[in-house]
Formats: sequence, structure tokens, C-alpha cells
Amino acid sequence: MDKIKQLSHWIADANRIVFFGGAGCSTESGIPDFRSGNGLYSKHYGQLSAETILSHSFFQKEPELFYDFYRKYLYFPNAVPNRAHKILAKLEEQGKLLGIVTQNIDNLHQEAGSKNVKELHGSLSRNYCSTCKVPYDTEDIISLEGVPRCECGGIIRPDIVLYEESLDSMVIEESLQMIYDADVLIVGGTSLAVSPANSFIRYYRGNQLALINLSSTPFDYKADLVIHEKLGDVLEQAYEGAL
Ligand code: OAD
Repeated sequence: MDKIKQLSHWIADANRIVFFGGAGCSTESGIPDFRSGNGLYSKHYGQLSAETILSHSFFQKEPELFYDFYRKYLYFPNAVPNRAHKILAKLEEQGKLLGIVTQNIDNLHQEAGSKNVKELHGSLSRNYCSTCKVPYDTEDIISLEGVPRCECGGIIRPDIVLYEESLDSMVIEESLQMIYDADVLIVGGTSLAVSPANSFIRYYRGNQLALINLSSTPFDYKADLVIHEKLGDVLEQAYEGAL
């Protein structure tokens, strides 16, 4: 059977779909991913790689450079949800999708209307003072020049997981439970190159794992259906076919 038709059948019969996604989910919204040819990791900042800049120790040592990079390459205030985000939100509203586990920090699933979103790597839409932990809105800190500082003098930071930092244990637990409970697991727009997130899909127990990604991943062999096409195209066609 045609692969997209197969996915349509799975979606039509499912009521506990879980979507596990990454940066490829937001490229159609104009946010570059990390590891494609023109992705964020192709950007070098002098001698520094993006991985270095997005690390905990670099943030502490060089917050000016971190914030300069953040404003140029990380924060996309004008990006809006695309077809993939919207279809996933509709599936949740229809009671077919349990929730989303995402590595993205762009808040676009929530902007599309998704409610149950586990953000493994945090979110740029939340910020807090690294000293006194007071929360700050992104609009308030982005309008400031240079390094945003709290009234207490501490540096304000985005609530994202930097390299050298751990994932939130509650988010891990809830994500793994959701994947464990899934009848259909759709993995989309992620190279599955980053640990520990890429190991999460091992918690899926079913036999309807669809992996949709433009390029191949180290976990293609684990999927029951592998589609190397655009996520928006595939979800749109599969969703329409399931109606
Ligand atoms: P990557 O950039 O590693 O992978 C994105 C994948 O999406 C690539 O394999 C692309 O081929 C694919 N892709 C791009 N556009 C697509 C589209 N329209 N449809 C289908 N596939 C598409 O991004 P992630 O896997 O999300 O972590 O990266 C994981 C983590 O690496 C990020 O969360 C970030 C980074 O280090 C932290 O910053 C902690």
C-alpha cells in the first residue's frame, strides 16, 4: 500500500497518537533547523561553533556574545505555525492525539492550539533571572540592548536547555509516559542525532511507528513506516485521507 495511505489508516483508527518532533517541524515556518546544509550549525561566529555558544559555560563567560547570537540566529518573533503544527493541533482537539514531545523551543505548537506539549529543551517564550529566578517576558528582554539584567543585578536567561545542562526530570518522565501510552507514534522533522531525546522513541511499544524526515536518520530501521518527504506535505495528505 502507498505509504501515505497507510499512515492515513493508522490515523483514522488511532485515538492515542503521539508526535515526537524536532526542528524540521518548523522549517516551513521559516526557522532553520540545526543540521541541514544551511542549518544553525553551519553558522560560525568567528572561531566559535553554535554548539559552543549554546553551552552553559559560554553563557556564563560571554553573555554579550550569547545574546548577540540569540538575537541574530535563535529568536524568530515573526514565525507563525505551519500546516504541520495546525494538523497536530486539530488531531488533539478531535481527541485522536494524546500530545506532542518536542525538542523545539519556538512555542509554535502552542501557538497553533496544541495543549499537551512537552518541551524537552525548554522554550524561548519563558525567561528567568539566573540569580533570583524571577520570570520575565521575552518581549521585555528582547527590547533591551545587550545583556538583559534583572532588578537584582542577575543576568536574565531564556528557559532553554543549553549544552552541559540536564533536561527537566518531570518533563522527561511525562514524555516517556506519553510515548509508552501511544497507539501510533509519529516521529517527524528530527535527525534523531541528539541524546537523550533520540532514545525516547525506544519507549514506544506498538507497531505503528511512522518516521517522517527529509533525510535518513540512525533510527529509520526501528520505524514501521519511513517517509523521506516534507512533514507538512505528508501530514496534510495523511490527515485528509483519514477524514
Ligand atoms: P536537526 O537539525 O538535527 O534535524 C532536523 C531534521 O529535519 C533534518 O534531518 C532535516 O532533514 C529534517 N527536515 C528539515 N525540514 C524538514 C521538513 N520540512 N520536513 C521533514 N523533515 C525536515 O534538528 P533536531 O533533530 O531538532 O538542541 O535537533 C535536535 C537538537 O539538536 C535541537 O533541539 C538542539 C540541537 O542541538 C539543543 O539546542 C539542546
